[in-house]
Amino acid sequence: MKVTSAEFVKSAFDRGHWTEDGLPEIAFLGRSNVGKSSLLNSLLGRKGLARTSNTPGRTQSINFFRVNEAFYFVDLPGYGFARVSKATRAGWGKMAEEYLSLREELVLSVHLVDSRHPPTDLDHQLNDWLVDNDKPHLVVATKSDKLSANALSKQIRLIGKSLEGSHVIPHSANTGKGKDLVWAEIVKAIEKP
Ligand code: GTP
Ligand code: MG
Repeated sequence: MKVTSAEFVKSAFDRGHWTEDGLPEIAFLGRSNVGKSSLLNSLLGRKGLARTSNTPGRTQSINFFRVNEAFYFVDLPGYGFARVSKATRAGWGKMAEEYLSLREELVLSVHLVDSRHPPTDLDHQLNDWLVDNDKPHLVVATKSDKLSANALSKQIRLIGKSLEGSHVIPHSANTGKGKDLVWAEIVKAIEKP
């Protein structure tokens, strides 16, 4: 995919602030610090568009990025970060669940897991929810540059077994490896009638 334009449009803290122009949306979700913002920047070839940081829980709102004036990338806040307050965590659940279950523009959910670790309980919950609700989705195993080729293929097999019913693609935001495969899935989802 040739990205001709990519711009941050808005941060939404509730439903009333979601975008209203009806373009299809690709959502990125996963635990805090897994690399959602980095994947988004990598796909768009724009380094600092989505804010990344070493501080987990940085993205606290639903952030909309318009791409090629044709679709949106939606960066959802990370889950499972212990240091944010209970109220904040409950807020995440409500915000994300509301978005995932109600959003008609959503054509694909990209669920990120760290390629180095087995999926967490929350990853299983999310995967089960996506599978049970027939939501088109894809698992991206992030930070693949941190593993040797052998270790990576072993991990991808494990993750695929663990998150049943889901297609797993390894990706590295550092090298861009896996980017084309992720884009291919996104294009398929956008073009589906
Ligand atoms: P929250 O918004 O806090 O939920 O985090 P996030 O999921 O958006 O993660 P973010 O993209 O901010 O990345 C978290 C940390 O992981 C940063 O220090 C990134 O530089 C690092 N990181 C992300 N992707 C990769 C990758 O592919 N390879 C390596 N080596 N580091 C990565
Ligand atoms: Mg982020």
